[in-house]
Amino acid sequence: MNMRRWSALAMGIVLFVAGSASLHAQFGAPHAAPSGPWSNKSLSPDQRADLVIAQMTLDEKIQLLHGLGWRSLFMPTESGPAVRSLGGAGFIPGIPRLGIPDLQMSDAAVGVARGAQKSRYSTALPSGVADAASWDPKIAYEYGALIGSELRDQGFNMSLGGGVNLTREPRDGRTFEYEGEDPILAGAMVGQMMKGEQDQHIIGDIKHYAVNDQENGRNYANSIIGQRAMRESDLLAFQIGIRDSGVGAVMCSYNLINGTYACENPYTLHDVLDRDWGFRGFVVSDWGGTHSTVPAAKAGLDIEMPGNGYFGEPLKKAVQDGEISAAQLNEMVHRVLRTEFATGIVDDPPQPKVVDVMHGFAVAQHVEEEGAVLLKNANHQLPLVAATIHSIAVIGGHADAGVLSGGGSAQVDPAGGNAVQPPSGSPTGIMALLSEWVYHRSVPLDALRAAAPDAKVTFDPGIDTASAASLAKSADVAIVFAIQHESEGTDLPNLSLPNNQDALIEAVAAANPHTIVVLESGGAVTMPWLGQVSAVLESWYPGIRGAQAIAAILFGQVNPSGRLPITFPKTEADLPHPEEAKQPAGPLNAMPGLPMLRQNQTIFDVHYDEGLKVGYKWYDAENKTPLFPFGFGLSYTTFTISDLKVVRGDGLDVSVRVRNTGRRAGQEVAQIYASLPAAAEEPPRRLVGWQKVRLEPGESRIVTIHVEPLYLSIFDVDKDRWTMAPGDYTISAGSSSRDLPLSAVVKLGEQ
Ligand code: BGC
Repeated sequence: MNMRRWSALAMGIVLFVAGSASLHAQFGAPHAAPSGPWSNKSLSPDQRADLVIAQMTLDEKIQLLHGLGWRSLFMPTESGPAVRSLGGAGFIPGIPRLGIPDLQMSDAAVGVARGAQKSRYSTALPSGVADAASWDPKIAYEYGALIGSELRDQGFNMSLGGGVNLTREPRDGRTFEYEGEDPILAGAMVGQMMKGEQDQHIIGDIKHYAVNDQENGRNYANSIIGQRAMRESDLLAFQIGIRDSGVGAVMCSYNLINGTYACENPYTLHDVLDRDWGFRGFVVSDWGGTHSTVPAAKAGLDIEMPGNGYFGEPLKKAVQDGEISAAQLNEMVHRVLRTEFATGIVDDPPQPKVVDVMHGFAVAQHVEEEGAVLLKNANHQLPLVAATIHSIAVIGGHADAGVLSGGGSAQVDPAGGNAVQPPSGSPTGIMALLSEWVYHRSVPLDALRAAAPDAKVTFDPGIDTASAASLAKSADVAIVFAIQHESEGTDLPNLSLPNNQDALIEAVAAANPHTIVVLESGGAVTMPWLGQVSAVLESWYPGIRGAQAIAAILFGQVNPSGRLPITFPKTEADLPHPEEAKQPAGPLNAMPGLPMLRQNQTIFDVHYDEGLKVGYKWYDAENKTPLFPFGFGLSYTTFTISDLKVVRGDGLDVSVRVRNTGRRAGQEVAQIYASLPAAAEEPPRRLVGWQKVRLEPGESRIVTIHVEPLYLSIFDVDKDRWTMAPGDYTISAGSSSRDLPLSAVVKLGEQ
């Protein structure tokens, strides 16, 4: 069995573990009303936490700092607190005598995950990267609020969503879960998403902290990166997300950072998260990501998940032996309890009810309509006009059955089961949870037929290129649905569409000049056929109403307004690392914490020597022309951006006039970039602000975007703080990182 398989197996076991617990769980954990002085809501969360701690025994304190263990999750539990688990990915029994609730955690990256075991339905939202592509913090809030309310409906009080690892390695199999390549955009979006969740009285979680930018060998990858680069890229996304949301939890990642595991790394956990950012929530390890007791606790890990190998008896012993002080233990417990009070899960526990399916449909469709990105539209091929189209050939991508989703712990179980039967010989059981390509029953073919009721809409699966081309030839328009699956635990071998789809698109385009490609992908794909097709729409993994949203865009009921939150390169040769760093061959790519699978594994270095030059910053600095740049996206109308004004104050206030110069209402994203003084030694430009604005035809509006000093600063490693380099800052404005017609220079002093 190869490494990818083993990695998949290890991941599959995680999923199985959670699932088997759920089989024996009771819905609706008992929740005793708080009783005692801490139930006084006029006290601060910190005061209330301390009042509880004063009543707690040592065992009760330890109990709050770990899950119940791999074994208890593995084996169906007939007794003990584990019977109360709702079958989410994690469970920590509460302390009923003190009114402290069970922590019921569920994965929830793109919707509440793993409902199948209990016949639970949840909304499958479009991918996180689609959320980022909306460039609209209100969409991110709506996304989070929906997840938060569906978690509550299902009895969960803690989310494991909030992925914000930067797309530094575009082949990362979790790109779809994250918010793109720019720290300021990603941080702002995940911050709003977590705010939306926590406003539902759910503990939010931002993950995977940090520099966990590839899945290949993720448990053994040692991310090597300079402090400045880390602070200004990957860590900045977390900094903004945590600041904007007051999120309750941060999940430390599997990998090592500069030689030390992320879950026991004093620099990232203590110096940065705790000391510099003032994080008051708790740090939870990724599942099996804890590697020690004393170093981890001292560095700042508060909860080991899902087990107790280090924070159960060994932590108790470390406290009794004085290796961990009573004060430190109390601090760990305090962080958990103050978060429970602050987020409202104690005072306002979840009240299980049936998920509001229709509301979920509306939100999912709205997110997709705002996040899908129109990449090409030659000769105004789109929008399609139903009245003038007599025939449409729909080809490939199982568009007759559903839309694709991303796999792994983010997988939202499909309503009614997978819309596409996996090919015979595919893995079954727990392996299937990871490797199966799961389709939701939102059917593009049906949605297109509904949009063009008088047209003849036919389908070809796209397996035989000749047959697909011949169908395309017979139709007015051909629409190819091209798919690329991503899943946690493995990375993409490259950015090409798999399964001969490039050849399929070429054959169809040769047969019909009106060929439209709809991509369902987790991130960037290469497009050797781009010059031959007339239109391309990137729909990401579009969620449970994906087909309806795609049809609405193709037929112009919705004017596309998504912008790329990641660069699409022409070829892998243009990436900072044309070849991804691979884990050296070893006996097993195992999950730490699963002793039965653990083998001698080799830690290997992943050199992020592109440093600050993540995403578009790389292409700009290296003078490489991307296929589609960061920030790019077309509309059915046209806009101009003019009248740039830059006013100095606390940071900058940048205003521009945005005008809709076309004949349809639409949305433009005014983007502001800054080029720092040469002495700062930064990549050519960075995004420092943006605003999405909706305009009627002919309408214009002045938008003012505040750019805070942090976004203009660099991290000075010697001084161990952010500083602003004195000198000339060029502020540019436009509609993508490569279309910036306006610029102004402002002089800023050291701050
Ligand atoms: C993933 C996390 C997830 C956890 C629990 C891990 O393998 O990396 O993102 O929250 O499992 O399912």
